[in-house]
Amino acid sequence: MANRGKPAYVGKMAGRHFLNTNDFSQREISDILRAARDLREKFRRGRPTNYLPGKTLFMLFYNRSLRTRNSFEAGIYQLGGHAHFLSPSDVYTPTLPEDMIPYQTESIADVSRVLSRYGDAVAIRIYGDAAKWHIGRGHKVIREFARWSSIPVLNMEDDIYHPFQALADMMAITDVAPKPQGKKFVVSYAYSGGLKPLAVPQSCILIGTQFGMDVVLAHPPGFELEDHVIEACRRNVEQYGGSFTITNNMREAFEGADFVYPKAWSPKKFFPPYNSAVDKEGAARYQDGFKDWICTPELMDLTNRGRYMHCGPADRGQEVVDEVIDNDRYSLYFQQAENRLHVQKAVMSMVMVRGR
Ligand code: CP
Repeated sequence: MANRGKPAYVGKMAGRHFLNTNDFSQREISDILRAARDLREKFRRGRPTNYLPGKTLFMLFYNRSLRTRNSFEAGIYQLGGHAHFLSPSDVYTPTLPEDMIPYQTESIADVSRVLSRYGDAVAIRIYGDAAKWHIGRGHKVIREFARWSSIPVLNMEDDIYHPFQALADMMAITDVAPKPQGKKFVVSYAYSGGLKPLAVPQSCILIGTQFGMDVVLAHPPGFELEDHVIEACRRNVEQYGGSFTITNNMREAFEGADFVYPKAWSPKKFFPPYNSAVDKEGAARYQDGFKDWICTPELMDLTNRGRYMHCGPADRGQEVVDEVIDNDRYSLYFQQAENRLHVQKAVMSMVMVRGR
């Protein structure tokens, strides 16, 4: 089908799912970021970008959201399409075969095939309580949707990956450092009283190593990320250069850093499959021992005029102090949030096209 009047990137990845940045090559991620910059420029200039007229995006949120929901919804509208919000409790909750409850749930295999006949992409968010705190179950739900869907499935964050956040983050990094290879990127644990998934730090270290950065993962003992992700990062280093190291020392990690990303995640040893049962109280008690893992100006001063990053929502006074997150000298926080709109519009433009 002709792509008359539209940029060449529209439909360039027609029909593909977007579940994990590491499913894509560095070249493909760079293509997405280039498209996102074109869309950002047009948005800022008020130029129309009617690239997906009449297309429908189904958005299924098992968890709450500010940035993801509103940037997807605004984004598809700005592309000429329409977003349809689905709350799992207002449909028969789409469920894996092992969790079915008659007339309250519906199999993902069926939901996915029905929605495939109505629209042009399905975007899903599921982690934490919605995935029963069994790490990997949220990702399994999204993979199950993708298995049965004949339209693209987009991962709006599960319990393993948050790929659109990673795209927005790499866009923010490459706005500051157009050649990120060799820049020191620290992904660090920071304390929160809440229980947060592993998705953001795991996607951050994946995309950092995919772009040849010197990635340092810093966390207290007990906050190890998943082995399969660590192994994927090591493979990225072999393929793309740069380095990947792990430390238990936040101060040491910050020294000379170009970008720091201090945020909370949960100690996985309290949750299946790494524990025999879900122990949220144990996890909360354990992480309360690390309240000194907080990003302060004193820590930022150890960096190489480093930039502060966080996916949002940041827990002020726990993960970071106001003097860092609100200081433009350090903070990329609002640029990262803004970029969500543009990277998602880029991916939607590239995948939500049939019969190209
Ligand atoms: N970063 C992010 O995904 O934000 P929301 O939880 O607000 O969507």
